[in-house]
Amino acid sequence: RIDEAVFDRFAARLEYVSGDFTDAATYGRVGEAIKGAESPVFYLEIPPFLFGPVVQRLSEAGLTEHARLVIEKPFGHDRDSAHALAEELHAYIDESQLYRIDHYLGKMGLEEILHLRFANAVLEPVWSRAYVDCVQITMAESFGVEDRGHFYDPVGALRDVVVNHLMQVVAAAAMEPPSRGDPSTLKESQVALFRAVAEADPAHYVRGQYDGYLGIDGVAPDSTTETYSALRLDIENWRWAGVPFFIRTGKRLPVTQTELRLVFKRPPRLGFWPRNHHPEPNQLVIKLDPSTGLRLQVDARRTDLGRIEDDALRLAVNGDH
Ligand code: BG6
Repeated sequence: RIDEAVFDRFAARLEYVSGDFTDAATYGRVGEAIKGAESPVFYLEIPPFLFGPVVQRLSEAGLTEHARLVIEKPFGHDRDSAHALAEELHAYIDESQLYRIDHYLGKMGLEEILHLRFANAVLEPVWSRAYVDCVQITMAESFGVEDRGHFYDPVGALRDVVVNHLMQVVAAAAMEPPSRGDPSTLKESQVALFRAVAEADPAHYVRGQYDGYLGIDGVAPDSTTETYSALRLDIENWRWAGVPFFIRTGKRLPVTQTELRLVFKRPPRLGFWPRNHHPEPNQLVIKLDPSTGLRLQVDARRTDLGRIEDDALRLAVNGDH
């Protein structure tokens, strides 16, 4: 609920400065507007090719000395270009002033996955190759690229959401428990996990493009950019060796939902049941966005009805927030 008084106070402090990114006068006006600010934050949600030029002009206008710079993705399009961009920015600002943002870190769900895994003695031991058959991470979006063609076409689904947002989900689902909660310990745990991820095999990668994508403003008429991307990752460590992680995302899919799904091993046939029943594997589904929650799919027997059914337990998360 919005507190109107607080909002009004906030809104009264907003100012809008418009201008051309390449025009030094724009930065003069920005400087005027933030005069007296001790530690301004510049949040750059702009086309990636402008990151360098804009930081350069902010610096030339004398605005970066005590500033922090938040840079949206994609930060380069591969390792070499990411290094090159960092080097370019370091000419004007120090690395400690630079924040590479992944807005997925702010979502409900990621911290919750870690908590869920390690705060529950019934989950932690089964969260491994001893019990899990595969892990599926899905980010489905029912909407398309719409008015973001200029941004999206040079990027594609893999770079737009897999290498950043969905790898955060992979990390939360697969990393070992960090021993502390500070940023560098968390990051070290993630890096330890990422180092165990085997190089992705193009033979296990599928790309697709939805009908109508080519008609979008900003999209090249013969574009082969993917709006759907599905791949398999393998993690070579004691917890996960042999358990494929299937990651998929796409625009214009039937629903909008991001989820993490653990599919457990298939139980053997049950000889004691008259028709030799072969139970379905259990699944633990963690919905992350936009709806959140847990679902545990179990194979249950209704003796009174004489049949076996898939059943689902929907669990409320009992947390301190
Ligand atoms: C953005 C992508 O980073 O994340 C979009 O560029 C995507 O393509 C979006 O739709 C999803 O995040 P959210 O927060 O809008 O669900």
